[in-house]
Amino acid sequence: MCQAWGNPSSSHPTGRDQDGLGSVVMGARGSCQVWSCRQEGEGAHRQRTGEPGQDAGRPPRGHRLHLRGHGGGSRGDPLPGNPCPPPPLQQAAIRRVGMNGTVLLLSLHFPSLSSLQANNMVIHTACRHFHESQCWRGDSRGTPHIVTSSVEHDSIRLPLEQLGREGLAEATFVPVSPRSGQAEVDDVLAAIRPNTCLVSLMLANNETGVIMPVAELSQRVCALNQRRAAEGLPRVLVHTDAAQMIGKGRVDVQELGVDYLTIVGHKFHGPRIGALYARGPGTATPLHPMLFGGGQERSFRPGTENTPMIAGLGQAAELVSKNWEAYEAHMRDVRDYLEATLEASFGKQRICFNSHFKGSKRLCNTCNFSILGPGLQGRRVLAHCKVLLASVGAACHSEKGDRPSPVLLSCGIPLEVARNALRLSVGRSTARADVDRAVQDLVQAVEQLERDLAP
Ligand SMILES: Cc1ncc(COP(=O)(O)O)c(C=O)c1O
Repeated sequence: MCQAWGNPSSSHPTGRDQDGLGSVVMGARGSCQVWSCRQEGEGAHRQRTGEPGQDAGRPPRGHRLHLRGHGGGSRGDPLPGNPCPPPPLQQAAIRRVGMNGTVLLLSLHFPSLSSLQANNMVIHTACRHFHESQCWRGDSRGTPHIVTSSVEHDSIRLPLEQLGREGLAEATFVPVSPRSGQAEVDDVLAAIRPNTCLVSLMLANNETGVIMPVAELSQRVCALNQRRAAEGLPRVLVHTDAAQMIGKGRVDVQELGVDYLTIVGHKFHGPRIGALYARGPGTATPLHPMLFGGGQERSFRPGTENTPMIAGLGQAAELVSKNWEAYEAHMRDVRDYLEATLEASFGKQRICFNSHFKGSKRLCNTCNFSILGPGLQGRRVLAHCKVLLASVGAACHSEKGDRPSPVLLSCGIPLEVARNALRLSVGRSTARADVDRAVQDLVQAVEQLERDLAP
C-alpha cells in the first residue's frame, strides 16, 4: 500500500488526490463525507480519514447547511439539486468563527466558481473597473495595468499573458527575491503605475510553500490609494489567491485587508470547487460578472448553483475554522520529521531544501527538496520508487516533462538543483510511519539509479 504524496489537483490526469488529502463523496441532503485516497498496488481503494477531528468532513448529526430555496421552493429546504435556485448564497454566507473568536473565513461568496474562474473574474473585474473609472473622468483611453509576482499559479499568469497578447491589459510580473522567496512589498509597490488597477499576490506559493507579505501589501496599497484618489488616479484593487493557505494556517480576510480572496475547496478536504471572497461585492469593491443568463448569486455568478458541492465546501470550511491550529501543528510536526529523516538518510550534504528561505515563513505541509547528484532528476527518482507517488512540482505542470520548475528557478535555485526537485506535501492523515516508508523508498530508488549509472 502506498500513500500518494503531493498537492492534490483537479488537473491531475489520474484524477487522484496526490497527497491523500481527500476527495468528497456527497450524501443526500447536502451532507458529505471526506475520504482519504490510498492506493493498493494498481487498484485504489478508499479509506475513511483517521486524523485530528476523526469525523473530518462528516457533518454533525442533525447538521443542515441552510441554503433556502425561493421562487416556488419551500423556504428553508436544504435540497441538493433543488430546481429552484437558492437566494443569494452570500446571504446564506457560511460564517465560521475560529476557536478564539476570530473570523477566519468571513464568508464564502460565489461558491459556485472554480478557483480558476475566481482568479479570472478578479482580473476581468479590475480591467472593467479601470475602463469605467476612466470614462467617468471623460477619458476612455489607456490600458489597464496589473502587478503580480513571477511565481503565481497559471490561473493568474496565463490570463494576464493572454490579455497582454490581445493588447487589452499590461502586466508586470515582479520577480521574487532569491533571499526570501517572497515578492517583496517594496518591489511590488515600485511596479505600480498610474494606470495600475490590480495587484494580485498569492498568499502562499504552491511549490515552495513560502508565505507572501499580503497583509503588509494591502496596508501600503490602501495608503497609496488615498494619494491616488487625490490625484484622480484609479484605485488599485488587491487580490490574493489563498488556495494553498486555507487549512494550513490562519487566514483572516480582515487582517489581510484584501478586496478579493480566492478559495479552493479541494486543498482543504472539501469538494473540487472554488469560491471567491469579495469585500462588499458591487458596493465596497467592484465585481463584474463574466457570465450572463440568470439571476443566481445576485447575477454576479449566474447559473444554477451546485448545492451539494457548496454544502461540502461549507462543511470543510467549518472544520478548518474550528481545527486549523491542530491541523497545522500536526502537519508541521510530520513535515519537520520528514525533513529530518531525509537528512539523516541521505546525509546533510546531499539534501538541498528548496523551500528554506531565511526570514520567510512557509506552509506547514510543504517539503520541496533535491537529492543532489548526477542522474537524480526528480522524475527519474520517482520512476524508481515502488510505493511513493508524488509530484516534482505543480501538478498542473505535469505535462512539462523534465524541465526544471520555473518557480524554483525564479527563486534563485540553481538549475542542477532545480532539476532534481521533488515536492512532498504531508496531509492531515499523514503519519510519521508514512514518512519512514516514503524515505526508505526514496533511498532504494536512489541506490538503484546509482547502480544503473555506475560504469
Ligand atoms: C495557488 C493556486 N491557485 C489556484 C489553484 C487552482 O486550483 P484548481 O485548478 O485545482 O482549482 C492551485 C492549484 O494547485 C494553486 O496552487
